[in-house]
Amino acid sequence: MELERYGHGGDIWTATETYGRPLDGWLDFSSNMNPWGPPEVIGRLMKEQWRDIARYPDPAVRSLRRKLSEVYRVPMESILVGNGAAELIDLVIRVLGPEETVIARPSFTEYEQAVRKAGRRIQDVFLRQDDLFDLKDAEPFASRTVFLGHPNNPTGRLIPQSVLERLHETETHLILDEAFMDFVPDESGHSFLGRAAESERIQVIRSMTKFYAMPGIRLGFLVAHPDIVRRLADQQTHWSVNFLAQLIGEAVLDETGYADRTRAWLLEERPWLIRELGRLGLRVIPGDVNYLLVSLPGDGRWNAKRLQRALAERGIMIRDASLFRGLDGSYFRIAIRLRPDNERLLKELKEVLA
Ligand SMILES: Cc1ncc(COP(=O)(O)O)c(C=O)c1O
Repeated sequence: MELERYGHGGDIWTATETYGRPLDGWLDFSSNMNPWGPPEVIGRLMKEQWRDIARYPDPAVRSLRRKLSEVYRVPMESILVGNGAAELIDLVIRVLGPEETVIARPSFTEYEQAVRKAGRRIQDVFLRQDDLFDLKDAEPFASRTVFLGHPNNPTGRLIPQSVLERLHETETHLILDEAFMDFVPDESGHSFLGRAAESERIQVIRSMTKFYAMPGIRLGFLVAHPDIVRRLADQQTHWSVNFLAQLIGEAVLDETGYADRTRAWLLEERPWLIRELGRLGLRVIPGDVNYLLVSLPGDGRWNAKRLQRALAERGIMIRDASLFRGLDGSYFRIAIRLRPDNERLLKELKEVLA
């Protein structure tokens, strides 16, 4: 658990402490941010409106909720904004979680942590490598409370629509983390946002930090039935969404050029990178978003931990995915970056694995 000592990828502080490189000396493939960086409008807003931090932020986050309501076509009363998706994962389990929550493995570790922090039980269901870790069968989850990544992290795979429909039919309480859904080209064809606004048995969590490359700002939102939103809002820390996050969130939703450029880049870059990684003898799970789960050949020469170390010596960070429960030591995860960075990764991988 060298670079993931604090539980996540993208930890350049721990990498710097471990390998003695400067903070800006890393090429980070371990956290899944949009490689185009934060939209320019954020810089302008911070410069022009920094004095307004002298006031408390809107406790009801009205302006941003109104904007989200227009963009995603869900009623404002069905939207709760949070300090990153991370806050909402915690809140939804703390307030609505039953005695037992079913978690599909492998998946994002914070679902498990939220359940444990709330003092409740976890029931694991392991997804199969031979199915590309897809949720093929609704039955192990049916009629329970389940927390699922849609698309899932670290696999990058969407849950098939038929499985979600079946779960909904069987009165399953569905908590869906759609943190990466904005990277999916036909987002509205897959997202359960609209359903969540109407049903007390579906809550959808979204992050704004990945697609707009602003994890330092902390911003996410949840869509649920208005009665559920009221219950969650009652238990949320006051002013957890700061003034700058509210202002920036509203502005980036107008950045349609940025969104189009991101989706166009990914449409080209993902198949290319999958192909090139395959040419190095690596097995790639063909994910639907901006990161890829990759496994090393089973000849025992390499494992993800060793590869992470060897690449870190060369200034490159990757995620050791063997730390996700349900994956063996051969798995690592990489973000898809812009072409020159991806070429550098391929070159270093080729040298290291030779
Ligand atoms: C699947 C998933 N959900 C939620 C989050 C948390 O996102 P945020 O930065 O909005 O708290 C992450 C962050 O890595 C993630 O990978």
